[in-house]
Amino acid sequence: MTGTAATTGLVEVAGLEKSFGDRQVLRGVDLTVERGTATVLLGPSGSGKTTVLRSLNVLEAPDRGSVRIGDAAVDFSAMPKEKGERRRRIKALRARSGMVFQAHNLFPHMTVLGNLIEGPVQVQGRPRDEAVAEARALLEQVGLAGREDAYPSQLSGGQQQRVGIARALALKPEVLLLDEPTSALDPELVGEVLGVIRALAGEGWTLIIVTHEVRFARDVADQVLFLDGGVIAERGGGEVLTEPREERTKRFLARVLEAG
Ligand SMILES: Nc1ncnc2c1ncn2[C@@H]1O[C@H](COP(=O)(O)OP(=O)(O)OP(=O)(O)O)[C@@H](O)[C@H]1O
Ligand SMILES: [Mg+2]
Repeated sequence: MTGTAATTGLVEVAGLEKSFGDRQVLRGVDLTVERGTATVLLGPSGSGKTTVLRSLNVLEAPDRGSVRIGDAAVDFSAMPKEKGERRRRIKALRARSGMVFQAHNLFPHMTVLGNLIEGPVQVQGRPRDEAVAEARALLEQVGLAGREDAYPSQLSGGQQQRVGIARALALKPEVLLLDEPTSALDPELVGEVLGVIRALAGEGWTLIIVTHEVRFARDVADQVLFLDGGVIAERGGGEVLTEPREERTKRFLARVLEAG
């Protein structure tokens, strides 16, 4: 499907443009993500992958284009004049996605449990007991049952990253955005984190994952988007990874497979 008005994806991005100074990083990105599917976004360094994810979570304000997640939409080309209304729309859109960063950004002075309930209790105003019960269930889901009293520094990198995933899920996002979730990890820790992400895909979470782990991507991806030079140069299903049509996708995959 393409990002036309007739589509009904959970996530719809149309005509996204973003410049930093005089460097145009996104040149009209269109994408649709269906609910309950996993989308893998790949492309060369500097092609704009992180900027796309940050735009979805409005950590970055695009210059033009629109983003809709579920019933929250922001048209960056036609923002409301009134500041309060602008803020409200951005906040509503941001609340629909959760972000997992390359290097886990846990609060170092808080326990694992503290990290997980901070957002639900402080930001969403949910009852503490309920947040704690959900946090325990999430820890079990990421294979860390019983570690709620540990501090981040007492956990391995892979464990910290799994806490990072649980923390993003604790806010009940409609879509989880993962930006190279394993690239900062020692090789022996990569598998446990990919395993958790694979399980989330199997449970029906909607995922958008930036990753260079091509084998993992083949396993998990319902949709593959290849970003190059600020546009999606090729898109499709898993065949984009196995039988790419575009020359630049072929070159990129050959490089990644050679490096991996
Ligand atoms: N805050 C910023 N200020 C200035 N330039 C930026 C900023 N963020 C990103 N850029 C530039 O935008 C371009 C795209 O960056 P982005 O981080 O989206 O790429 P990427 O595809 O995620 O790359 P990588 O694979 O290395 O993570 C790069 O040239 C980068 O230097
Ligand atoms: Mg990046």
